[in-house]
Amino acid sequence: MNGEVRVYPDAPTLARGVAQHIVTLAIDAIAQEKRFTMALAGGSTPRPAYATLAEARYAGRLDWSRVHLFWGDERCVPSEDPRSNYRMARETLLEAVPIPEENVHRMRGELPPEEAAARYAEVLASCFGPSPVPRFDLMLLGLGEDGHTASLFPGSPALEERERWVVAQYVERLAEWRLTLTLPVLNAAKNVAFVVSGAEKREILAKVWSEAGVQLPAARVRPDAGRLRWFVDVEARGGLV
Ligand code: 6PG
Repeated sequence: MNGEVRVYPDAPTLARGVAQHIVTLAIDAIAQEKRFTMALAGGSTPRPAYATLAEARYAGRLDWSRVHLFWGDERCVPSEDPRSNYRMARETLLEAVPIPEENVHRMRGELPPEEAAARYAEVLASCFGPSPVPRFDLMLLGLGEDGHTASLFPGSPALEERERWVVAQYVERLAEWRLTLTLPVLNAAKNVAFVVSGAEKREILAKVWSEAGVQLPAARVRPDAGRLRWFVDVEARGGLV
């Protein structure tokens, strides 16, 4: 297993650990670079962390005018759809912090998938420059029970993409179109933080951390120069050492 592992006794302390990590990195990035760029993870695991980050004791420590939020992936649905990762972040975090609207760079899930992917690549180019690959200060990622992360699923062509920064793909298993950042972008990040919670993730986490899992999408997140950290609770880690 590569990276540093931080284990928390339960979901609330895990959420606080992630919120504190975000604040620490953001304060440092803003001090050094005058801005902090973070790609948010979707799904349900990050909800408590985003809600905790929105609390005054964390959010009050950041200059939100210097924070730029992006998404690691999105479902190809309108922003009001309950499946939208943007909607989840808006409800838990964005509505509670003074981040300027222009600093929130959502993936346009309501557009035709290929157009949405192309547009998001343009957004990244405008925020990070046309080259080299965007280097996020922090890339937040979740872990699916099949070992996927962002919307990079086992066996998907998106997993092998080396040129494009954003791709659209139809996920058979979910019967859903998704947008996702590609491995070159994930691995260019200065900091990558996986957040994994719950006993249902115990088996896949053990596999991702084992030799048998090296080809799983989550195991292929190996930052080129950045730091990889795993924020997990005891339920997810199980008896792993
Ligand atoms: C998504 C996520 C995805 C998620 C995992 C885990 O859009 O669903 O980006 O990669 O992180 O599927 O999802 P849960 O946190 O809901 O278990």
